[in-house]
Amino acid sequence: MPIPIIVQGFQEGFGTIPYLWPVLKTAPWILLLAALKYYFGGARNTSERLMHSKVVMVTGGTSGIGACVVRELAARGAQVILLTKQPPSDLFLVEYIEDLRRLTKSQLIYAEQVDLSSLHSIRTFATKWIDNNPPRRLDAVVLCGGVAVPRGARKNTIDGIDEEWQVNYLANFHLLSILSPALRVQPAHRDVRVVFATCSSYIGAKFDLAVVKREPGAIGGPTTVSVNSKAKVKTDVHRPASTKGIYALSKFTLMTFAHSFQRHLNAYKRPDGLPPCTRVLVVDPGLSRTPGTRRWLTGGSLWGLLLYLLTWPLWWLVLKSPDQGAQSILYALMEENYGRGEGGWMIKECREVDCARRDVRDEDLGKRVWEFSEQQIEEAEKEGALRRALEKKEKEAAEQKQEKKQTAPASNKEKSAGSRRSRKAK
Ligand SMILES: NC(=O)c1ccc[n+]([C@@H]2O[C@H](COP(=O)([O-])OP(=O)(O)OC[C@H]3O[C@@H](n4cnc5c(N)ncnc54)[C@H](OP(=O)(O)O)[C@@H]3O)[C@@H](O)[C@H]2O)c1
Repeated sequence: MPIPIIVQGFQEGFGTIPYLWPVLKTAPWILLLAALKYYFGGARNTSERLMHSKVVMVTGGTSGIGACVVRELAARGAQVILLTKQPPSDLFLVEYIEDLRRLTKSQLIYAEQVDLSSLHSIRTFATKWIDNNPPRRLDAVVLCGGVAVPRGARKNTIDGIDEEWQVNYLANFHLLSILSPALRVQPAHRDVRVVFATCSSYIGAKFDLAVVKREPGAIGGPTTVSVNSKAKVKTDVHRPASTKGIYALSKFTLMTFAHSFQRHLNAYKRPDGLPPCTRVLVVDPGLSRTPGTRRWLTGGSLWGLLLYLLTWPLWWLVLKSPDQGAQSILYALMEENYGRGEGGWMIKECREVDCARRDVRDEDLGKRVWEFSEQQIEEAEKEGALRRALEKKEKEAAEQKQEKKQTAPASNKEKSAGSRRSRKAK
Protein backbone atom coordinates (compact mmCIF):
# COMPACT_ATOMS: atom_id res chain seq x y z
CA MET A 1 0.00 0.00 0.00
CA PRO A 2 2.65 2.64 0.88
CA ILE A 3 4.80 1.67 -2.14
CA PRO A 4 2.33 2.94 -4.82
CA ILE A 5 1.91 6.13 -2.75
CA ILE A 6 5.70 6.67 -2.60
CA VAL A 7 5.95 5.95 -6.35
CA GLN A 8 3.19 8.48 -6.94
CA GLY A 9 5.13 10.99 -4.84
CA PHE A 10 8.24 10.58 -7.01
CA GLN A 11 6.37 10.62 -10.29
CA GLU A 12 3.75 13.32 -9.73
CA GLY A 13 5.25 15.23 -6.83
CA PHE A 14 4.66 14.78 -3.08
CA GLY A 15 2.21 17.67 -3.06
CA THR A 16 -0.29 15.47 -4.92
CA ILE A 17 -0.53 12.99 -2.03
CA PRO A 18 -3.52 13.95 0.13
CA TYR A 19 -2.89 14.57 3.86
CA LEU A 20 0.85 13.84 3.51
CA TRP A 21 2.12 16.73 5.63
CA PRO A 22 -0.38 16.34 8.52
CA VAL A 23 0.44 12.62 8.60
CA LEU A 24 4.22 13.27 8.59
CA LYS A 25 3.80 15.83 11.35
CA THR A 26 1.80 13.57 13.68
CA ALA A 27 3.65 10.32 12.96
CA PRO A 28 6.69 11.11 15.21
CA TRP A 29 4.34 11.91 18.11
CA ILE A 30 2.47 8.66 17.65
CA LEU A 31 5.78 6.80 17.54
CA LEU A 32 6.96 8.58 20.68
CA LEU A 33 3.71 7.71 22.45
CA ALA A 34 4.03 4.06 21.40
CA ALA A 35 7.66 3.98 22.59
CA LEU A 36 6.74 5.51 25.98
CA LYS A 37 3.79 3.12 26.37
CA TYR A 38 6.07 0.20 25.60
CA TYR A 39 8.71 1.47 28.06
CA PHE A 40 6.29 2.07 30.95
CA GLY A 41 4.56 -1.27 30.27
CA GLY A 42 7.65 -3.02 31.67
CA ALA A 43 8.99 -6.50 31.02
CA ARG A 44 6.85 -9.55 30.25
CA ASN A 45 7.28 -12.92 31.85
CA THR A 46 8.59 -15.47 29.40
CA SER A 47 9.35 -18.20 31.95
CA GLU A 48 7.27 -21.33 31.78
CA ARG A 49 6.61 -23.84 34.53
CA LEU A 50 4.13 -26.64 34.71
CA MET A 51 1.54 -25.31 37.15
CA HIS A 52 -0.96 -28.15 36.76
CA SER A 53 -2.12 -29.50 40.14
CA LYS A 54 0.06 -27.04 42.10
CA VAL A 55 -1.74 -25.64 45.13
CA VAL A 56 -1.38 -21.87 45.37
CA MET A 57 -2.74 -19.68 48.15
CA VAL A 58 -3.30 -16.05 47.15
CA THR A 59 -4.20 -13.00 49.21
CA GLY A 60 -5.60 -10.01 47.31
CA GLY A 61 -6.64 -12.27 44.44
CA THR A 62 -9.96 -10.51 43.86
CA SER A 63 -8.64 -7.23 42.49
CA GLY A 64 -5.81 -5.53 40.61
CA ILE A 65 -2.49 -7.32 40.24
CA GLY A 66 -3.51 -10.29 42.41
CA ALA A 67 -6.58 -10.95 40.25
CA CYS A 68 -4.39 -11.11 37.12
CA VAL A 69 -1.97 -13.51 38.83
CA VAL A 70 -4.90 -15.72 39.83
CA ARG A 71 -6.32 -15.72 36.30
CA GLU A 72 -3.00 -16.75 34.81
CA LEU A 73 -2.37 -19.48 37.38
CA ALA A 74 -5.88 -20.90 37.06
CA ALA A 75 -5.61 -20.92 33.27
CA ARG A 76 -2.47 -23.03 33.69
CA GLY A 77 -4.35 -25.58 35.81
CA ALA A 78 -3.14 -24.59 39.27
CA GLN A 79 -5.47 -25.10 42.20
CA VAL A 80 -6.05 -21.60 43.55
CA ILE A 81 -7.21 -20.84 47.07
CA LEU A 82 -8.31 -17.23 47.31
CA LEU A 83 -7.98 -15.81 50.80
CA THR A 84 -10.70 -13.19 50.84
CA LYS A 85 -12.15 -10.62 53.20
CA GLN A 86 -15.66 -11.88 52.47
CA PRO A 87 -16.98 -15.35 53.37
CA PRO A 88 -17.20 -17.83 50.45
CA SER A 89 -21.01 -17.52 50.58
CA ASP A 90 -20.86 -13.81 49.63
CA LEU A 91 -22.93 -13.41 46.44
CA PHE A 92 -20.39 -11.18 44.67
CA LEU A 93 -17.59 -13.58 45.51
CA VAL A 94 -19.62 -16.58 44.30
CA GLU A 95 -20.24 -14.80 41.00
CA TYR A 96 -16.60 -13.74 40.71
CA ILE A 97 -15.41 -17.32 41.17
CA GLU A 98 -17.99 -18.66 38.73
CA ASP A 99 -16.83 -16.14 36.10
CA LEU A 100 -13.21 -17.02 36.77
CA ARG A 101 -13.93 -20.74 36.43
CA ARG A 102 -15.72 -20.14 33.14
CA LEU A 103 -12.98 -17.86 31.82
CA THR A 104 -10.07 -20.09 32.78
CA LYS A 105 -11.89 -23.39 32.13
CA SER A 106 -10.73 -24.53 35.54
CA GLN A 107 -12.92 -25.68 38.41
CA LEU A 108 -10.01 -25.62 40.86
CA ILE A 109 -10.67 -22.16 42.28
CA TYR A 110 -11.92 -21.85 45.84
CA ALA A 111 -12.23 -19.14 48.47
CA GLU A 112 -11.56 -19.15 52.17
CA GLN A 113 -12.37 -16.23 54.42
CA VAL A 114 -9.26 -14.53 55.73
CA ASP A 115 -9.83 -10.92 56.65
CA LEU A 116 -6.36 -9.46 56.83
CA SER A 117 -7.60 -6.71 59.11
CA SER A 118 -8.57 -9.25 61.76
CA LEU A 119 -5.91 -11.31 63.54
CA HIS A 120 -8.62 -13.69 64.75
CA SER A 121 -9.79 -14.36 61.19
CA ILE A 122 -6.22 -15.15 60.10
CA ARG A 123 -5.64 -17.45 63.04
CA THR A 124 -8.94 -19.29 62.50
CA PHE A 125 -8.05 -20.08 58.89
CA ALA A 126 -4.35 -20.86 59.38
CA THR A 127 -4.82 -23.16 62.38
CA LYS A 128 -7.55 -25.02 60.47
CA TRP A 129 -5.10 -25.44 57.59
CA ILE A 130 -2.23 -26.78 59.67
CA ASP A 131 -4.50 -29.03 61.78
CA ASN A 132 -5.07 -31.23 58.76
CA ASN A 133 -3.51 -34.68 58.92
CA PRO A 134 -1.82 -35.71 56.63
CA PRO A 135 -0.47 -32.21 55.90
CA ARG A 136 -2.04 -30.52 52.91
CA ARG A 137 -0.12 -29.90 49.74
CA LEU A 138 1.03 -26.29 49.35
CA ASP A 139 3.21 -25.16 46.45
CA ALA A 140 3.09 -21.40 46.77
CA VAL A 141 1.78 -18.53 48.82
CA VAL A 142 1.32 -15.25 46.96
CA LEU A 143 0.85 -12.23 49.19
CA CYS A 144 -0.83 -9.55 47.08
CA GLY A 145 -3.37 -8.31 49.60
CA GLY A 146 -2.82 -4.72 50.59
CA VAL A 147 -4.26 -1.27 51.08
CA ALA A 148 -2.95 2.19 50.29
CA VAL A 149 -5.06 4.44 52.48
CA PRO A 150 -5.54 8.02 51.25
CA ARG A 151 -4.83 10.82 53.70
CA GLY A 152 -7.88 11.53 55.80
CA ALA A 153 -9.26 8.01 55.43
CA ARG A 154 -6.99 6.38 57.99
CA LYS A 155 -8.56 4.07 60.49
CA ASN A 156 -7.69 1.36 62.92
CA THR A 157 -8.65 -2.27 62.51
CA ILE A 158 -10.82 -4.18 64.95
CA ASP A 159 -7.55 -5.11 66.68
CA GLY A 160 -6.80 -1.45 67.37
CA ILE A 161 -3.90 -1.38 64.90
CA ASP A 162 -3.40 1.00 61.98
CA GLU A 163 -5.14 -0.61 58.98
CA GLU A 164 -2.32 0.00 56.51
CA TRP A 165 0.27 -1.47 58.85
CA GLN A 166 -1.84 -4.50 59.71
CA VAL A 167 -3.09 -5.41 56.22
CA ASN A 168 0.21 -4.73 54.42
CA TYR A 169 2.57 -6.20 56.97
CA LEU A 170 1.34 -7.65 60.26
CA ALA A 171 -1.29 -9.89 58.66
CA ASN A 172 1.39 -11.48 56.46
CA PHE A 173 3.64 -12.00 59.47
CA HIS A 174 0.77 -13.62 61.39
CA LEU A 175 -0.36 -15.81 58.50
CA LEU A 176 3.12 -17.12 57.66
CA SER A 177 4.13 -17.60 61.30
CA ILE A 178 1.19 -19.99 61.73
CA LEU A 179 1.56 -21.61 58.30
CA SER A 180 5.31 -22.12 58.72
CA PRO A 181 4.99 -25.82 59.82
CA ALA A 182 2.77 -26.47 56.77
CA LEU A 183 5.54 -25.12 54.52
CA ARG A 184 8.32 -27.02 56.28
CA VAL A 185 6.61 -30.42 56.05
CA GLN A 186 6.28 -30.32 52.27
CA PRO A 187 8.33 -33.11 50.62
CA ALA A 188 11.92 -32.07 49.91
CA HIS A 189 11.54 -32.52 46.14
CA ARG A 190 8.68 -29.99 46.03
CA ASP A 191 9.54 -26.50 44.81
CA VAL A 192 7.65 -24.27 47.25
CA ARG A 193 7.68 -20.48 46.89
CA VAL A 194 6.45 -17.62 49.03
CA VAL A 195 6.06 -14.41 47.04
CA PHE A 196 5.76 -11.04 48.79
CA ALA A 197 4.50 -8.02 46.84
CA THR A 198 6.41 -4.90 47.82
CA CYS A 199 6.61 -1.39 46.44
CA SER A 200 9.53 0.94 45.73
CA SER A 201 8.25 3.27 48.45
CA TYR A 202 10.24 1.07 50.89
CA ILE A 203 13.37 2.89 49.71
CA GLY A 204 12.31 6.10 51.44
CA ALA A 205 10.89 4.44 54.56
CA LYS A 206 11.88 5.79 57.95
CA PHE A 207 12.30 2.84 60.27
CA ASP A 208 10.40 3.97 63.35
CA LEU A 209 8.10 1.38 64.89
CA ALA A 210 6.76 3.93 67.40
CA VAL A 211 4.48 5.23 64.61
CA VAL A 212 2.64 1.90 64.50
CA LYS A 213 2.78 1.12 68.20
CA ARG A 214 -0.49 -0.05 69.58
CA GLU A 215 -1.86 1.48 72.75
CA PRO A 216 -2.62 -1.38 75.20
CA GLY A 217 -6.35 -1.67 75.67
CA ALA A 218 -7.16 0.09 72.41
CA ILE A 219 -9.81 -1.65 70.44
CA GLY A 220 -11.52 0.05 67.61
CA GLY A 221 -11.73 -0.04 63.89
CA PRO A 222 -14.78 -0.30 61.77
CA THR A 223 -16.78 -2.26 64.31
CA THR A 224 -17.39 -0.37 67.50
CA VAL A 225 -17.94 -2.88 70.23
CA SER A 226 -20.38 -2.17 73.01
CA VAL A 227 -19.14 -3.37 76.36
CA ASN A 228 -20.88 -3.28 79.70
CA SER A 229 -19.74 -0.90 82.38
CA LYS A 230 -18.14 -3.61 84.53
CA ALA A 231 -15.53 -4.53 81.94
CA LYS A 232 -13.59 -1.40 81.15
CA VAL A 233 -12.27 -1.87 77.65
CA LYS A 234 -11.31 1.39 75.93
CA THR A 235 -13.11 2.07 72.69
CA ASP A 236 -11.20 5.24 71.87
CA VAL A 237 -8.54 4.68 69.29
CA HIS A 238 -4.94 5.55 69.98
CA ARG A 239 -3.42 7.52 67.17
CA PRO A 240 0.20 8.56 67.21
CA ALA A 241 1.09 12.16 66.42
CA SER A 242 2.26 11.31 62.91
CA THR A 243 0.93 8.54 60.70
CA LYS A 244 2.83 9.73 57.64
CA GLY A 245 4.90 7.13 55.87
CA ILE A 246 3.16 4.05 57.31
CA TYR A 247 2.68 2.54 53.85
CA ALA A 248 6.42 2.79 53.12
CA LEU A 249 7.26 1.51 56.59
CA SER A 250 4.89 -1.46 56.16
CA LYS A 251 6.62 -2.42 52.91
CA PHE A 252 10.12 -1.97 54.35
CA THR A 253 9.19 -4.10 57.38
CA LEU A 254 7.55 -6.69 55.13
CA MET A 255 10.82 -7.06 53.23
CA THR A 256 12.82 -7.31 56.46
CA PHE A 257 10.43 -10.03 57.59
CA ALA A 258 10.71 -11.82 54.21
CA HIS A 259 14.46 -12.23 54.78
CA SER A 260 14.00 -13.26 58.42
CA PHE A 261 11.38 -15.80 57.31
CA GLN A 262 13.80 -17.28 54.76
CA ARG A 263 16.48 -17.58 57.49
CA HIS A 264 13.88 -19.20 59.77
CA LEU A 265 12.98 -21.75 57.05
CA ASN A 266 16.62 -22.43 56.19
CA ALA A 267 17.49 -23.05 59.87
CA TYR A 268 14.97 -25.88 60.10
CA LYS A 269 16.54 -29.35 60.20
CA ARG A 270 14.28 -31.71 58.30
CA PRO A 271 13.80 -35.21 59.78
CA ASP A 272 14.91 -36.68 56.43
CA GLY A 273 18.12 -34.59 56.55
CA LEU A 274 17.38 -33.03 53.15
CA PRO A 275 17.68 -29.27 52.51
CA PRO A 276 14.65 -27.00 52.92
CA CYS A 277 12.39 -26.69 49.91
CA THR A 278 10.73 -23.30 50.46
CA ARG A 279 12.14 -20.14 48.93
CA VAL A 280 11.07 -16.59 49.56
CA LEU A 281 10.91 -14.00 46.77
CA VAL A 282 10.16 -10.31 47.11
CA VAL A 283 8.61 -8.72 44.03
CA ASP A 284 8.16 -5.09 43.09
CA PRO A 285 5.42 -5.18 40.43
CA GLY A 286 5.82 -1.52 39.47
CA LEU A 287 3.19 1.21 39.49
CA SER A 288 -0.03 -0.12 38.00
CA ARG A 289 -3.55 1.19 37.29
CA THR A 290 -5.34 -0.91 39.89
CA PRO A 291 -8.34 -0.04 42.08
CA GLY A 292 -5.92 0.42 44.99
CA THR A 293 -3.75 2.92 43.09
CA ARG A 294 -6.84 4.74 41.84
CA ARG A 295 -8.19 5.10 45.37
CA TRP A 296 -4.85 6.43 46.56
CA LEU A 297 -4.46 8.85 43.63
CA THR A 298 -7.99 10.21 44.01
CA GLY A 299 -7.59 10.55 47.76
CA GLY A 300 -10.87 8.66 48.06
CA SER A 301 -12.87 11.81 47.13
CA LEU A 302 -15.25 12.68 44.28
CA TRP A 303 -13.16 15.74 43.31
CA GLY A 304 -10.11 13.50 43.24
CA LEU A 305 -11.96 11.06 41.01
CA LEU A 306 -12.95 13.86 38.65
CA LEU A 307 -9.33 15.04 38.45
CA TYR A 308 -8.21 11.47 37.87
CA LEU A 309 -10.69 11.07 34.99
CA LEU A 310 -9.54 14.34 33.44
CA THR A 311 -5.88 13.31 33.67
CA TRP A 312 -6.58 9.67 32.75
CA PRO A 313 -4.53 9.75 29.49
CA LEU A 314 -1.44 10.54 31.57
CA TRP A 315 -2.07 7.60 33.93
CA TRP A 316 -2.83 5.35 30.97
CA LEU A 317 0.58 6.24 29.57
CA VAL A 318 2.82 6.05 32.62
CA LEU A 319 1.15 3.34 34.71
CA LYS A 320 1.13 -0.36 33.89
CA SER A 321 -2.09 -2.25 33.40
CA PRO A 322 -2.81 -4.74 36.22
CA ASP A 323 -1.85 -7.52 33.82
CA GLN A 324 1.52 -5.90 33.15
CA GLY A 325 1.97 -5.44 36.92
CA ALA A 326 1.38 -9.17 37.42
CA GLN A 327 4.26 -10.19 35.13
CA SER A 328 7.08 -10.02 37.70
CA ILE A 329 5.02 -12.02 40.21
CA LEU A 330 4.36 -14.68 37.57
CA TYR A 331 8.06 -14.68 36.76
CA ALA A 332 8.92 -15.20 40.45
CA LEU A 333 6.50 -18.14 40.54
CA MET A 334 7.60 -19.73 37.30
CA GLU A 335 11.28 -19.05 36.67
CA GLU A 336 13.08 -22.37 37.04
CA ASN A 337 16.24 -20.93 38.70
CA TYR A 338 14.37 -19.93 41.85
CA GLY A 339 13.51 -23.55 42.61
CA ARG A 340 17.02 -24.03 44.04
CA GLY A 341 19.38 -22.10 46.30
CA GLU A 342 19.15 -20.09 49.48
CA GLY A 343 16.15 -17.93 48.53
CA GLY A 344 15.50 -14.31 49.52
CA TRP A 345 15.72 -12.83 46.01
CA MET A 346 14.27 -9.53 44.92
CA ILE A 347 12.53 -9.38 41.54
CA LYS A 348 11.69 -6.32 39.47
CA GLU A 349 10.84 -6.14 35.78
CA CYS A 350 11.12 -9.93 35.48
CA ARG A 351 14.72 -10.07 36.61
CA GLU A 352 16.68 -10.35 39.81
CA VAL A 353 17.81 -7.04 41.26
CA ASP A 354 19.62 -5.84 44.37
CA CYS A 355 17.61 -4.33 47.20
CA ALA A 356 18.04 -0.56 47.22
CA ARG A 357 18.18 -0.72 51.03
CA ARG A 358 20.79 -3.09 52.45
CA ASP A 359 19.25 -2.91 55.93
CA VAL A 360 16.30 -5.11 54.92
CA ARG A 361 18.76 -8.01 55.11
CA ASP A 362 20.10 -6.99 58.53
CA GLU A 363 19.69 -9.91 60.94
CA ASP A 364 19.47 -7.80 64.11
CA LEU A 365 16.89 -5.54 62.57
CA GLY A 366 14.98 -8.64 61.46
CA LYS A 367 14.99 -9.95 65.06
CA ARG A 368 13.75 -6.62 66.40
CA VAL A 369 10.92 -6.55 63.86
CA TRP A 370 10.01 -10.17 64.63
CA GLU A 371 9.87 -9.55 68.39
CA PHE A 372 7.88 -6.34 67.97
CA SER A 373 5.37 -8.09 65.71
CA GLU A 374 4.97 -11.08 68.02
CA GLN A 375 4.38 -8.81 70.99
CA GLN A 376 1.89 -6.65 69.13
CA ILE A 377 -0.07 -9.70 67.97
CA GLU A 378 -0.04 -11.27 71.42
CA GLU A 379 -1.41 -8.10 73.03
CA ALA A 380 -4.07 -7.59 70.39
CA GLU A 381 -5.13 -11.24 70.39
CA LYS A 382 -5.51 -11.33 74.19
CA GLU A 383 -7.69 -8.25 74.13
CA GLY A 384 -9.60 -9.58 71.13
CA ALA A 385 -10.37 -12.81 72.99
CA LEU A 386 -11.60 -10.82 75.97
CA ARG A 387 -13.78 -8.70 73.72
CA ARG A 388 -15.30 -11.74 72.02
CA ALA A 389 -15.99 -13.38 75.40
CA LEU A 390 -17.76 -10.22 76.57
CA GLU A 391 -19.77 -10.02 73.37
CA LYS A 392 -20.78 -13.66 73.76
CA LYS A 393 -21.84 -13.06 77.37
CA GLU A 394 -23.86 -10.02 76.36
CA LYS A 395 -25.52 -11.95 73.58
CA GLU A 396 -26.38 -14.85 75.86
CA ALA A 397 -27.78 -12.48 78.50
CA ALA A 398 -29.88 -10.73 75.86
CA GLU A 399 -31.18 -14.07 74.57
CA GLN A 400 -32.09 -15.21 78.08
CA LYS A 401 -33.93 -11.93 78.69
CA GLN A 402 -35.83 -12.37 75.46
CA GLU A 403 -36.75 -15.96 76.35
CA LYS A 404 -38.00 -14.87 79.78
CA LYS A 405 -40.11 -12.13 78.18
CA GLN A 406 -41.70 -14.64 75.83
CA THR A 407 -42.59 -17.19 78.54
CA ALA A 408 -43.60 -14.67 81.23
CA PRO A 409 -47.07 -13.56 79.95
CA ALA A 410 -48.40 -17.12 79.72
CA SER A 411 -47.43 -18.07 83.26
CA ASN A 412 -48.55 -14.68 84.61
CA LYS A 413 -52.00 -15.22 83.15
CA GLU A 414 -52.29 -18.54 84.91
CA LYS A 415 -51.16 -17.23 88.26
CA SER A 416 -53.02 -13.90 88.58
CA ALA A 417 -55.88 -14.48 91.00
CA GLY A 418 -58.02 -11.59 89.86
CA SER A 419 -57.94 -12.34 86.14
CA ARG A 420 -61.09 -13.26 84.21
CA ARG A 421 -59.69 -16.67 83.39
CA SER A 422 -59.00 -17.54 87.05
CA ARG A 423 -62.47 -16.33 88.11
CA LYS A 424 -64.02 -18.57 85.45
CA ALA A 425 -62.04 -21.54 86.74
CA LYS A 426 -63.40 -20.98 90.24
N1 LIG B 1 -0.74 -1.11 42.11
C1 LIG B 1 0.46 -0.64 42.22
O1 LIG B 1 0.80 0.36 41.59
C2 LIG B 1 1.45 -1.32 43.11
C3 LIG B 1 2.79 -0.91 43.07
C4 LIG B 1 3.71 -1.55 43.87
C5 LIG B 1 3.29 -2.54 44.73
N2 LIG B 1 1.98 -2.91 44.76
C6 LIG B 1 1.58 -3.97 45.70
O2 LIG B 1 0.94 -5.02 44.98
C7 LIG B 1 -0.08 -5.59 45.77
C8 LIG B 1 -1.40 -5.57 45.00
O3 LIG B 1 -1.70 -4.22 44.72
P1 LIG B 1 -3.00 -3.77 43.91
O4 LIG B 1 -2.79 -2.36 43.55
O5 LIG B 1 -3.30 -4.76 42.87
O6 LIG B 1 -4.09 -3.82 45.07
P2 LIG B 1 -5.67 -3.56 45.00
O7 LIG B 1 -6.16 -3.44 43.62
O8 LIG B 1 -5.97 -2.47 45.96
O9 LIG B 1 -6.19 -4.93 45.61
C9 LIG B 1 -5.92 -5.22 46.92
C10 LIG B 1 -6.40 -6.61 47.24
O10 LIG B 1 -6.21 -6.80 48.64
C11 LIG B 1 -7.43 -7.24 49.20
N3 LIG B 1 -7.61 -6.77 50.56
C12 LIG B 1 -7.61 -5.50 51.02
N4 LIG B 1 -7.90 -5.49 52.31
C13 LIG B 1 -8.09 -6.78 52.69
C14 LIG B 1 -8.45 -7.41 53.90
N5 LIG B 1 -8.66 -6.71 55.01
N6 LIG B 1 -8.57 -8.75 53.91
C15 LIG B 1 -8.39 -9.48 52.80
N7 LIG B 1 -8.06 -8.96 51.61
C16 LIG B 1 -7.92 -7.60 51.56
C17 LIG B 1 -8.51 -6.62 48.33
O11 LIG B 1 -9.71 -7.35 48.50
P3 LIG B 1 -11.11 -6.64 48.15
O12 LIG B 1 -11.14 -6.54 46.66
O13 LIG B 1 -12.12 -7.56 48.72
O14 LIG B 1 -11.09 -5.32 48.83
C18 LIG B 1 -7.89 -6.78 46.95
O15 LIG B 1 -8.13 -8.07 46.43
C19 LIG B 1 -0.14 -4.78 47.06
O16 LIG B 1 0.59 -5.44 48.04
C20 LIG B 1 0.54 -3.49 46.70
O17 LIG B 1 1.16 -2.88 47.80
C21 LIG B 1 1.05 -2.31 43.97
